[in-house]
Amino acid sequence: MAGYDRNFTDELRTRLSIVDVVGRRVPLVKKGQNYWGCCPFHNEKTPSFSVNEEKGFYHCFGCGEHGDIISFTMKSNNMDFVDALKELANQAGIKMPEYKPKSAEQVAREENYFQITEQATQIYQKKLFESDGQSALEYIRGRGFSDEMIKKYRIGYAPKNNFIANKFVNIKQETLLSTGLCRRGDYGIYDFFRDKLMFPIFNVHGQVVAFSGRSMDGSEPKYINTSDTEMFHKRKTIFGLNFARDAIHRSNRSIVVEGQIDAIQMQSNGFPETVAPLGTALTEDHIAILCKSNRNIIFCFDGDNAGQKAAGRACDIVMPFLRDNSDVRFAFVTGGKDPDEILKKSGADAMRKIIDNATPLVDFLWKLTNESFLVSTPGGRAQAEKFLKQKTDKITDVSLRAEYEQEYNSRKFNSWHKWKKSDSKQTNIELPQIDTITKNTLIFIINKYPELAERYAEFLATLNVGFDGDASDMNLDEKSAEKYIVSLKIQKYLESLNIKKKELFSAFISGDEKAGDEIKNIDAEIQKYTDKLDTITML
Ligand code: UTP
Ligand code: MN
Repeated sequence: MAGYDRNFTDELRTRLSIVDVVGRRVPLVKKGQNYWGCCPFHNEKTPSFSVNEEKGFYHCFGCGEHGDIISFTMKSNNMDFVDALKELANQAGIKMPEYKPKSAEQVAREENYFQITEQATQIYQKKLFESDGQSALEYIRGRGFSDEMIKKYRIGYAPKNNFIANKFVNIKQETLLSTGLCRRGDYGIYDFFRDKLMFPIFNVHGQVVAFSGRSMDGSEPKYINTSDTEMFHKRKTIFGLNFARDAIHRSNRSIVVEGQIDAIQMQSNGFPETVAPLGTALTEDHIAILCKSNRNIIFCFDGDNAGQKAAGRACDIVMPFLRDNSDVRFAFVTGGKDPDEILKKSGADAMRKIIDNATPLVDFLWKLTNESFLVSTPGGRAQAEKFLKQKTDKITDVSLRAEYEQEYNSRKFNSWHKWKKSDSKQTNIELPQIDTITKNTLIFIINKYPELAERYAEFLATLNVGFDGDASDMNLDEKSAEKYIVSLKIQKYLESLNIKKKELFSAFISGDEKAGDEIKNIDAEIQKYTDKLDTITML
């Protein structure tokens, strides 16, 4: 194992769920927190082999075998370490990096890198409290940062000139350039961050890997970040995670906000489980990293259009990570532009309300769909349907995907076609209620064949029942399902004719002559539809 890129094994552990890896070989059933199956390493009939998704470990209470995805793959396939990695890389759909042990040279490069970023952090921190940093200090205090916060997050100030380049003049240029703090220009080496309020970006071990600098004079862009380096990959780095890690474990959730100032203010005001992506783009890697702790995420976006867009994107990215115990929600900041502003203007309680009222993913996606398409038209509904399907198809957990599909089918039925009780067409004749078996059959049909539901929408509405509820599994193909609805429709019509006939009959007895003629008409109609019903059932 020595020398094998830790990043790569970490990446495998992040990307692959142990339940999926083990589940390929051993049927697993979820009981309580863990998944259980029969141990593949000793002979047994009752399951004593447990798999913990969150921790990424398996343990057999029968024979004591335990380990992670790598040891499982090695043992169950009789593979050596490198082959197991290859197999897992294959399962994760990623390329295996070439085997190269870390050279002494590389180790030295890493050490130099962190030495420079550490020293630069200290220099920036010191500068913030000197005269060049005065306006930056006033600015950050004005944004509600206490000295304690400034110290904890190691906020600093990068002066206007090429301060770092000059300070590190004795260091090998390559080394300095490798940190991204300086760049090479036509006239030599210059500082990348000049006149910026500096936010160090830490790795999970708390080392400074990069910086984010905010412009102080209103110039655009508002923030610049260190470009990717050997040690820093923006797409895989989450701001604030080093501080939030424990809290994410303890509270069993994470909150994701858009900006680093938001993250710091949230962490400092009662939401220590908050993090932010770097820059606005949330990536699959960010989510994979968060899901290592748990799959409960509250995305908290700005209430503007950009926030809505970001939420849609986050939804896309998070779908494949959903499990049956995930709780993913979307909160939108209203009454202020971002969490930072809410905390300052209205306080932590107002923020807590926003977080507590976050919309579950299933509802968010439904809302998004309804807002994005004209669902009052058949075309819009068709588009919306494709959109929804494209999203739910991203769910990898098969039974969860089926549940989402069912859920949306019943929502489509209840809401797009307005078949709710209150909207149904009023008939002047009170029809006898349909029985439970008929109702369950219809629920099945509606869920399984939405097109049929749409075709017979008007009729279904007259039945005056809610079709929400679980559909039992049935063996009914689409043709038979349609026959079922049509014959039910005729039966119901016949029932209503018979009721009408009875009413007319009483009227006739009480002396209404005309009622007699009407009864004749109704009898003819009853005959006609009874014949129709016979033909359909005989087909
Ligand atoms: P915002 O524009 O919402 O900034 O960008 P903000 O955090 O509210 O900024 P303040 O409060 O005015 O300081 C959200 C995040 O997007 C990234 C930064 O990470 C920022 O925190 N961003 C934004 C950039 O990387 N570059 C930019 O030019 C702007
Ligand atoms: Mn802000």
